Amino acid sequence: MRIGVPAETFPGEKRVATVPEVVQKLVKLGFTVSVQSGAGAAANFDDDSYKAAGADIAPDAAALWEKSDIVFKVRAPDAAEVARIRQGQILIGFIWPAQNPDLMQSLAARKGTVLAMDSLPRMLSRAQKMDALTSMAGITGYRAVIEAAHAFGRFLTGQITAAGKVPPAKVFIAGAGVAGLAAIGTAASLGAIVRANDTRAEVADQVVSLGGEFVKVDYQEEGSGGGGYAKVMSEGFQQAQREMYAKQAREVDIIITTALIPGKPAPKLITADMVKSMKPGSVIVDLAAEQGGNCELTEPGKIVVKHGVTIVGYTDLPSRLAKQSSTLYANNLFRLAEELCKTKDGVANVNMDDDAIRGLTVIKDGSITWPPPAPKLPPAPAKVVSQQKNPVSTAKGHSHGSGAPMSGNSLAIMFGVAAALFWFIGAYAPVEFLGHFTVFVLACFVGYMVVWNVTPALHTPLMSVTNAISSIIAIGALVQIAPPAMTGISRPDDWIRWLAVAGIALTAVNMFGGFAVTQRMLAMFRK
Ligand code: NAI
Repeated sequence: MRIGVPAETFPGEKRVATVPEVVQKLVKLGFTVSVQSGAGAAANFDDDSYKAAGADIAPDAAALWEKSDIVFKVRAPDAAEVARIRQGQILIGFIWPAQNPDLMQSLAARKGTVLAMDSLPRMLSRAQKMDALTSMAGITGYRAVIEAAHAFGRFLTGQITAAGKVPPAKVFIAGAGVAGLAAIGTAASLGAIVRANDTRAEVADQVVSLGGEFVKVDYQEEGSGGGGYAKVMSEGFQQAQREMYAKQAREVDIIITTALIPGKPAPKLITADMVKSMKPGSVIVDLAAEQGGNCELTEPGKIVVKHGVTIVGYTDLPSRLAKQSSTLYANNLFRLAEELCKTKDGVANVNMDDDAIRGLTVIKDGSITWPPPAPKLPPAPAKVVSQQKNPVSTAKGHSHGSGAPMSGNSLAIMFGVAAALFWFIGAYAPVEFLGHFTVFVLACFVGYMVVWNVTPALHTPLMSVTNAISSIIAIGALVQIAPPAMTGISRPDDWIRWLAVAGIALTAVNMFGGFAVTQRMLAMFRK
């Protein structure tokens, strides 16, 4: 199939949906790739670099849409692009179906299939590699600090020079989601004193690990609305939060606001009075400008100076770092292409039985399939409280993560079957086998019990470290190839020894790869 990448038509948009490095990977997956002439120019990728990577260049949008089976885009299509979609074509890009019902209707009328990158079920750990919202938000947070530093008339880091002492800038970040955390890390690495607040108490540790200080609101209320998102807070909380924010506004030099609850207008956290109370020359960067802004005085898309404070309301921060954002976005799309084309033969299969693909697909062959059913996640672990209410299950110790204690009958049946199986193996299998089998069953049981209570979000790091640990089989293989004098075991056949060598080579990949991935994940939380 042919993947087509048109130039973005949204005014001022500099990003492009694929980059030369990713074209090569798409070609390896079996796809043919066409790029519209000049599509990557604003992100510093010229036609020649796409050609060198294996793409062909289409002279204009009409030619590109005409020959493509799959179209990769960044922004939602405009009316002219919608009119180019033909039956059976697959369009992939940001669509925002909840905010664009009319667009959804006109897309459905074209009888194509549409995958919306903004609709990815982010809680599936498997989906992280395709999560373009996260990669774009990370860039947004970084760029917000750069914009703030640009508008701010001083260093961010403190310095003692012959010409005088410079205090470090104080930066306050409202909302520590993906963009907020990236902003904390960036501002801290530039030497600023960073403080942050979020309604979700669970992010406090992440703020600290990135070099910030978590500032609490003096009011008892948990702000987590599930799925890593916030909920609308009570009036009492909001009042206490306003008081704390007013105090921060008087003290800090830069405020970066990122607070958002999906599907709701941005909470107004910085009032006009707070802006007035800031020191002249201070800066506010309002990332939520497009959703109405977290600051009362923000003007979306503009940079304005009010009461001596520069307020940056840009809504296109990822596009202002176009080369970086295009590269990360192109990689997210490549990972999606891999999921769509598991056979690596250049044929995309929109498999609606796959949770991640199902969530992404907002229109399938002209039928609107958004919103998707909730993804099937393992049930949350039961709270300790529920065990206390049920002393029988606690005393027996048989209650597990799902919270449903096994009935006496099922337990008796389970033990009966297990005992019969052991008797059968003991009676008929070789003596050594029984020992190995017992260890195997116990290992399965312990592994199962360890993984059962871990939340799905932690499965990736858990997998990487268990991968490494599972490479303990290397010891078995080493015993097979060691000289008999060392092990006391007679020399095995040559083919067994070669098999052991292959086993060591394969498990080494597992072992070092597992530790390397774990190391990289831990590094994300280090300063
Ligand atoms: P996110 O959902 O990961 O983070 C938002 C954070 O705000 C959450 O941690 C949430 O708990 C917190 N929050 C919600 N209500 C709050 C309140 N009342 N007080 C304190 N914290 C509160 O979102 P993400 O991906 O980090 O994006 C942040 C913002 O940046 C969003 O508004 C998004 O639309 C915007 N954005 C802006 C771009 C631009 O160019 N300006 C580009 C991309 C995203």
